[in-house]
Amino acid sequence: MEAIILVGGFGTRLRPLTYTIPKPLLPLANIPMVERMVRNLPTIFDTAILAVNYGLEEMKNYFENRNVGKKIIIVPEEEPLGTGGAMRNCINHVTGTVAVFNGDVVNSINLEEMLEQHINKKAKGTLALWEIDDPSRFGVVELKNNKILQFQEKPEKGTELSNLINAGTYLLEREILEMIPPNQKISIERDIYPKIAGNGLYGFPFKGHFIDSGTPKSYLEANFKCLGNDGTASHPGASIRGSCLIHKSVRLIDCIIGPNAVIGPDVKLEKCVIRNSVILSGVEGYGCVVEDSIIGPEISLKEDKKQILISPEGEITF
Ligand code: GDD
Ligand code: MG
Repeated sequence: MEAIILVGGFGTRLRPLTYTIPKPLLPLANIPMVERMVRNLPTIFDTAILAVNYGLEEMKNYFENRNVGKKIIIVPEEEPLGTGGAMRNCINHVTGTVAVFNGDVVNSINLEEMLEQHINKKAKGTLALWEIDDPSRFGVVELKNNKILQFQEKPEKGTELSNLINAGTYLLEREILEMIPPNQKISIERDIYPKIAGNGLYGFPFKGHFIDSGTPKSYLEANFKCLGNDGTASHPGASIRGSCLIHKSVRLIDCIIGPNAVIGPDVKLEKCVIRNSVILSGVEGYGCVVEDSIIGPEISLKEDKKQILISPEGEITF
């Protein structure tokens, strides 16, 4: 069975990080988002199809000669085709029921249970659904007896049909892909789902966690979620608090790390305090306190050097 992973977005809300690293290759707890998603696919999936536009060369380089446990097919788009156009563009590699994933989501969906419901209901499409207080920046559905009766993409605040949002994970029959006009920019959420709601479209609500890691705040949150409760690291050069992940190549001297800290490869820190933060590869730092920030990659936190700090509010300091 194939899984299509949509990894073509520009990652605008994570700039400037995504100027140099495409969003799908940004690490979550030191593993690129897209690789983490491929590795987490149940064994029923033997192939991951990556629908790529922005960041094509980086993606090809990353997956060349790397064994991630599944066959990887990279399907490029010359121009961004939107979420629907991108999945239509992959149709030649799809042999039957296909799973489609937004590439920036971390969640606790049990895909095998979702597939069981999809088969039981003889659904044309099944969408994983998550309940949320403010659904306005997501796709929203009206659900009755697991049937999706209506779909609204990013409705205006106050007009949402419910608090159940599209969690960006779908099981689709091939006929839905065939319904999408080829080689055109099509949004599955705006152009297709509203039309087929009420006609073979089902919802699969799930509990646990759901994070769309597309903003600085949610990127940090997704990192800490991936640490789980067993992310406890140890290092002779640091006092460690709470859940942390420290890459084996990191050099620390007299540091206090955590709670909630991810330190990437080749980082060198001396007399630093790091909490609720992600330090990307190659960062060097001396005598600084870093809190609620994403730092790096390859930058120096010493005095008079350029810094990139992204606070959870999205505020960027150079
Ligand atoms: N290949 C390709 N081409 N991928 C694309 C394109 C494109 O033109 N446009 C977007 N994508 C990918 C993004 O990289 C991302 O993985 C996914 O499609 C969804 O795009 P986002 O830009 O992250 O959309 P969103 O977060 O605003 O909304 C979507 O996700 C929500 C859940 O997180 C929608 O599906 C909502 O309905 C949903 O609630
Ligand atoms: Mg998103």
